Amino acid sequence: MNAPSSPLCLATPKTLQTAAQLLQNGGLVAFPTETVYGLGADATDDRAVARIFAAKGRPSFNPLIVHLAATDWVTRYAEMTPSAARLAAAFWPGPLTLVLPRRADCAISLLVSAGLDSLALRVPAHPVAHALLQATDRPIAAPSANPSGAVSPTQAQHVLEGLGNKVDLILDGGACAVGVESAVVDCTGPQPVLLRHGGLTLEALQAVAPDLTVTDLSQPDAPRSPGQLASHYAPNKPLRLNATTVAADEGLLAFGPDVPTGAGQVLNLSPSSDLAEAAAHLFAYLRALDALPVRALAAMSIPERGLGRAINDRLRRAAV
Ligand code: TXA
Ligand code: MG
Repeated sequence: MNAPSSPLCLATPKTLQTAAQLLQNGGLVAFPTETVYGLGADATDDRAVARIFAAKGRPSFNPLIVHLAATDWVTRYAEMTPSAARLAAAFWPGPLTLVLPRRADCAISLLVSAGLDSLALRVPAHPVAHALLQATDRPIAAPSANPSGAVSPTQAQHVLEGLGNKVDLILDGGACAVGVESAVVDCTGPQPVLLRHGGLTLEALQAVAPDLTVTDLSQPDAPRSPGQLASHYAPNKPLRLNATTVAADEGLLAFGPDVPTGAGQVLNLSPSSDLAEAAAHLFAYLRALDALPVRALAAMSIPERGLGRAINDRLRRAAV
């Protein structure tokens, strides 16, 4: 048993009911999704949504993703555009967020959209997230459950470490299988635009939407996705990229079978060069290396294809 003061509990039918009641009463509940843990609140409750921004220290101009139990909830809140309908049919439930035009009569808090006339929606695949949405019977706004700018949580323990005293409950559903956040696609215009690389690959998206383009992700000053700030996902220690040699006072985030020797500590994202395995380990290994007695972190290069695009995006922002 946890001490009564700990908000951490295993996800069970009973704790899911408690979590749903907390959400219905304006509480903050952290829960697992297939990508990362989310910090959830009732998306229709202004005060509850404001608590998310306060708990994370998140700038109010950075809008939140709203989670839904099923695709047919979308039209209550937003317009399902043709490109969105195609992508939703192919990939929901799953690690994909769609940005859609808000309906004028939308019941979701305006704080969620941070002043934009659009809404970011996602139907998660994780059984605990799905059960929580069903039990709550409300749309749940949930950014990643970490203090703003820090490494995203892929285990309940990470949430406890970062936000433990600021949440009402943390549902423990084990480690997140995907390990990087959802891909975010803007479907408000005539052509879909990828705003954030994520747990669904560009290749998979373009197989369904060949007209999908990628926003210039290297222009963090004029982001269409305001959360794509240059510095994000950052460990406490300095991180350098594309390491081919390594020093004794460095912790090496390795990838593949050929690892340079000499590092003080090594964690290998995937000795067999499997990008899905590497994505699943990424945030937990960044945290672990950060906590080890090394001066700085160094990451080997990761191929820029498939999930490697999302891994490299997160590493570049972590290294700023
Ligand atoms: O996998 C995920 O997406 C996780 C889990 C918990 O679902 N959530 C997540 O949320 O990563 P967050 O808040 O860390 O990232 C949300 C991203 C940000 O880049 C934000 O700017 C973008 O979605 N976003 C939200 N609403 C938007 C909108 N209306 N237009 C454009 N971008 C939006
Ligand atoms: Mg985040």
